[in-house]
Amino acid sequence: MNKIKTNNIITIDGPAGSGKSTIAKIIAKDLGLTYIDTGAMYRAMTLIALDNNIGLEDEKSILARAKDIKLEIDSSASDENNYTKLRLDNVDVTDEIRSREVGAAVSIVSKLSGIRKYLVSIQRELAGEGNAVLEGRDTGSIVCPDALLKIFLTASIAERVKRRKLQLYKKNQKVEVSSIEEEIKNRDHIDSSREDSPLVVPEDGIEIDTSDMTILEVINKIKQLYYDRTKT
Ligand code: C5P
Repeated sequence: MNKIKTNNIITIDGPAGSGKSTIAKIIAKDLGLTYIDTGAMYRAMTLIALDNNIGLEDEKSILARAKDIKLEIDSSASDENNYTKLRLDNVDVTDEIRSREVGAAVSIVSKLSGIRKYLVSIQRELAGEGNAVLEGRDTGSIVCPDALLKIFLTASIAERVKRRKLQLYKKNQKVEVSSIEEEIKNRDHIDSSREDSPLVVPEDGIEIDTSDMTILEVINKIKQLYYDRTKT
């Protein structure tokens, strides 16, 4: 028997291109919960390393630099078409952290245990008393294992590549399908095989394969699961 969860937290984990961000943002908005984009924080750490010429595996130097920089994350304006606003020392780096350079490097930085520990403590603080949707790779397994509802989204690699291509196309970035596929597969491999907090379906998490589902179908399914757990 599951113990009763009262924290009003939904976690949404899954591999790149599984639809997490879009779904998490809409769910948060519809349910009046705070959206917390944990991937943006790992991307910020990666940007810090790249901008300061710090080796991607040099945990000590990345952490030391990061702790000196004010990291602000503002989800208030984020919706399915807009990324979470992220500022480093008052500079808006929302677009920079989404660059292909950061995308190609982020899984290397995210393997570092010291970085994970640092960011997980910030994420738990943001989740606070509850009323939040956390999105990432370990939010149900590590950050908030006691969440009310833990979702794991998946989709076939072909579908994920298609979605990412469309996303880049909307941003006027034309990229070869083969290179998108390679990047996604590479990230999947590193994220799933790392020693610390690998990408896994969390204990009593619910796996949803979104390959043949519309966004609305996925949203309705998650909301129904949420209502089932919150009804008195
Ligand atoms: O979700 P997004 O694509 O922005 O995540 C970028 C990367 O950050 C992932 O590929 C993963 O390496 C890392 N990440 C993580 N744990 C999280 C969120 C993201 O390791 N909770």
